[in-house]
Amino acid sequence: MLTGKRILIGIGGGIAVYRVAELARLLMKQGAEVRCVMTKAAQQFVTPLTFEALTGEAVHSELFDLTAERTMGHIALARWADVLLLAPATANLLAKHAYGIADDLLTTLLQVREGPVLAAPAMNVSMWRSPATQANVAILRERGVSFIGPVAGALACGEEGEGRLAEPEAIVAALLPLVSEQKLAGQRWVINAGPTREGWDDVRVLSNRASGRLGVCLAEAAAAMGARVTLVAGPGTPASLAGFERVDVETAHEMQAACESLAKNADVFVATAAVSDYRFAAPVEGKIKREGRETLQAEFAANPDIVAGIAAMPERPRKVIAFAAERSDHVAHARDKLARKKVDAVVANDASRMGAATGSGWWVTVDKVVELPEADKAIFAQSLIEQIQAMGWKA
Ligand code: C5P
Repeated sequence: MLTGKRILIGIGGGIAVYRVAELARLLMKQGAEVRCVMTKAAQQFVTPLTFEALTGEAVHSELFDLTAERTMGHIALARWADVLLLAPATANLLAKHAYGIADDLLTTLLQVREGPVLAAPAMNVSMWRSPATQANVAILRERGVSFIGPVAGALACGEEGEGRLAEPEAIVAALLPLVSEQKLAGQRWVINAGPTREGWDDVRVLSNRASGRLGVCLAEAAAAMGARVTLVAGPGTPASLAGFERVDVETAHEMQAACESLAKNADVFVATAAVSDYRFAAPVEGKIKREGRETLQAEFAANPDIVAGIAAMPERPRKVIAFAAERSDHVAHARDKLARKKVDAVVANDASRMGAATGSGWWVTVDKVVELPEADKAIFAQSLIEQIQAMGWKA
């Protein structure tokens, strides 16, 4: 998700520096180009060598370093970055930045910086709550600095409370909207995901192998691009730290109720969920006993088709997208579903790949079939969003 994005980490002097090493690794793993600036105090906790080894780039720390100024001066460094991430943002760094003090490389960079800045504070809980720090945070927020954390938990100083550096994954999630073009700003998306689960008795259920991962990836990517997203999640759908709403449901009927009420105000509805086509016709209270039977029969009743219902709503979302998991003739089946469910596009994929870590398939509309190559679900989700956007609609 961060492929090719340039992230400059401004590392302040706090014990949480050691956790920033893990964060730098995660950013690299996500495809970002990472450079680091360390304050003098930060170098008391971890040496620049650690960050040089992790990023493969020289760590910057001196304002008056002529060699560094010749290769990439401090102004160029501030402008190089797509986002400047302060981690850990100490009380001292926040105070200096709030008052425009520029007495070392990092605070000077902050003064020069015109693009997005994300601060991830970490400090003792009393220091965080102090009126001075809170006032400085308010000043910086007002000027457009974004904040992630601190979070509550055990602090390195032995105390408990709000002061821990946010988890690296949460910091990545907070970075995404800052580095992504806000192409979906103003749009409202509803996405359903995962399996549904239909109870037979108090312990037994009918469900399927869907993981819900693609729906989560779509929700994350659409939210990062500025959409207001609600994910209607079936059982087992993975958690996400990204900025979208989530409504948890269990049965197809619950999923239908949630989706229909949300879809009234939506621009886009994407039905990634593997909704159970059937439920038990007569669910049983208690637990069905085996009682010597070698076979057992159950009757099923058809569930509503959620996506077809939403496509038929008088005030339907502008774009409704369904999925089709098939074993053969994928595009032909997708075309059939496109007409039958009256949706705007169908993503055809292979049923055998349900629950896989990667996604692949065909994007099928009335006038177009696009083959979508196999890719990590996060990347696959991006290519689906591109196709949805390319359909366009009148405001
Ligand atoms: O008809 P089929 O189940 O193959 O269609 C799959 C598509 O329809 C998916 O987008 C799925 O979310 C949706 N669907 C639904 N309600 C159902 C069954 C499928 O919304 N009861």
